[in-house]
Amino acid sequence: MTSLAEQWAIHPHHTWLHGQRPEHPVQFDEQAQMWNVYGYDEAQEIFADPVTFSSNTAGLLSVEVDPALMEGNVLQMDPPGHQKLRELVSSAFTPKMIAALEPRIAELTHQLLDQVQGQDRIELVGDLAYPLPVIVIAELLGVPASDRDLFRGWVERAMEASDELLKTERGEEQERALEVQMAESMKLLDYLRGHVAERRRSPREDLLTKLVEAEIDGQRLNDNEVVNFANVLLVAGHITTTMLIGNTVLCLDANPEQDALLRADRSRLPGVIEESLRFLSPFTLALRGATKEVEVGGRRIPPGQMIMLWLSAANRDPRQFERPDVFDPTRTPNAHLGFGRGVHFCLGAPLGRLEGRIVMDILLDRFPVLRTDPATPPAFMQAEHLTGVKSLPLHTRA
Ligand code: HEM
Repeated sequence: MTSLAEQWAIHPHHTWLHGQRPEHPVQFDEQAQMWNVYGYDEAQEIFADPVTFSSNTAGLLSVEVDPALMEGNVLQMDPPGHQKLRELVSSAFTPKMIAALEPRIAELTHQLLDQVQGQDRIELVGDLAYPLPVIVIAELLGVPASDRDLFRGWVERAMEASDELLKTERGEEQERALEVQMAESMKLLDYLRGHVAERRRSPREDLLTKLVEAEIDGQRLNDNEVVNFANVLLVAGHITTTMLIGNTVLCLDANPEQDALLRADRSRLPGVIEESLRFLSPFTLALRGATKEVEVGGRRIPPGQMIMLWLSAANRDPRQFERPDVFDPTRTPNAHLGFGRGVHFCLGAPLGRLEGRIVMDILLDRFPVLRTDPATPPAFMQAEHLTGVKSLPLHTRA
């Protein structure tokens, strides 16, 4: 019998999703000259020490990245600068602030589903899972949600190129991938730059204005910092949740007994969302660079080397999770690393969880059946650092 990962054509390099176990929790890839960390404890150790394991990894590529593109990019920053920048927006992402978005998220979900009401088939990603989170984050930031097809094109092409960047060997190919990534990212950054200039002239009640007016140690952020920070929020704030929604529906489709239990008792939903984040972790990979020689999992990592933290592999580590290949929403505890850990722990986790919960609740209310069709199977993104569907056709009738 073929496994679900094979049926769904999940990236072949994600061997742990294909039922295989890494030989060692920490391995060196000679060809790429990078370290792969697959183990849960080892990943946790790295997340816990941002001094030894820096997030500023752009400098470790053999090709040069324009420093102006890195200013204000929280994902690439280390303490103490990282914390100061993160705090500027963390008040907008507290569980209380996010909970206040619930009525709007529910309203948008219903509006999007009204457009496919009565259809025998829906395409979950295009009809709901992509537009919903992008509208929510665009409204939070204050950019027109109607521009979402523009973002989608730029983000998808930049993601493909950044995947290429990690896969290719140092040299010309890597430079070409970087050029594509920069060109596509630049379009989104220029777009945001226009909105930032607008906010400097006429402030509004939105997150962009908050960033424009914010001060760190008595100084306002410069344009690059505002634009790059907003860019991380916009990119991280939508495709991950798209994947979470698609993956959760797929997990229930593959485990009909769990679907029936959830339909009978919605209090199981938070457990389903957490298990989906563990079982098919949307954000597969986090990057760090060793700032000094250090031992992890019995292997010595020299300074200046790139470390790939495979969160989705750690989330299948049998030393941490019993029967890791079983989708079990009742796992307690379920301390998965789907949102990362430590100082860079996902800022949008309360929003992602809330969107996932509201969308699933409404989907189950409105569709007594949500079933994949072997004739038109789901299509997974083929980027190594992401695990999620880019299209998910579903039958809505028995
Ligand atoms: C729902 C699915 C989501 C998943 C699986 C996810 C996953 C992650 C992970 C693994 C990290 C840590 C990266 C690292 O340590 O290098 C992260 C960071 C981040 N996420 Fe999310 N995320 C999700 C949703 C969101 C949403 C909705 C937002 C909204 C704005 C968001 C914004 C961010 C930001 C700004 C960071 C950087 C935090 C920092 O560097 O301090 N994420 N996310």
